[in-house]
Amino acid sequence: MEGKLRKLFDEADIREAVKRIARAIARDFDEEEIVLVPVLKGAFMFASDLVREIGSPVIIDFVRAASYGAATATCGEVTLTKDLETDIRGKNVIIVEDIIDSGLTLRALRDIFLARNPKSLKICALVDKKARREVEIEGDYVGFTIDDGFIVGYGIDYAERYRNLTAIFVKEEE
Ligand code: IMP
Ligand code: MG
Repeated sequence: MEGKLRKLFDEADIREAVKRIARAIARDFDEEEIVLVPVLKGAFMFASDLVREIGSPVIIDFVRAASYGAATATCGEVTLTKDLETDIRGKNVIIVEDIIDSGLTLRALRDIFLARNPKSLKICALVDKKARREVEIEGDYVGFTIDDGFIVGYGIDYAERYRNLTAIFVKEEE
């Protein structure tokens, strides 16, 4: 899949979305401690901006999820290739993902984490592709909702490329 990049959300759009999400998190948690869990690798840039806007006490811990399936689509089983190092029992946990697509990854992460009895579990995603959902999962904090299209930039890759772009682009097929 080669093709041109078309800018979808620029730096200012992203900054605004990050601040809006941070305000919603502040409203929900105030001075309560949060465990923020970015999902590697796609959420690293989003999470690093988001955490700087969060005033509540925050612990950051990462997971990496692997799904068996095609490179750009998720189908089937999801496993953690890097698990949390933090005990989340009784904690306020927020999973931070780049994209909710079919929803399979986040549903699996949610189930794995809920089994550890956190006090609360919320889902934060930079981009929600709502129309492509295959399982029931809702983002509690969502930056942008898009219909379809393959996006790259701001941490999000195509075959490990484009993560360093500071804006979000649609990768158009030729
Ligand atoms: P889901 O399990 O189908 O919801 O898949 C979500 C994951 O698929 C995201 O975390 C991304 O890694 C990947 N993904 C889905 N859509 C895109 C896209 O447009 N660009 C890059 N990665 C994507
Ligand atoms: Mg991902």
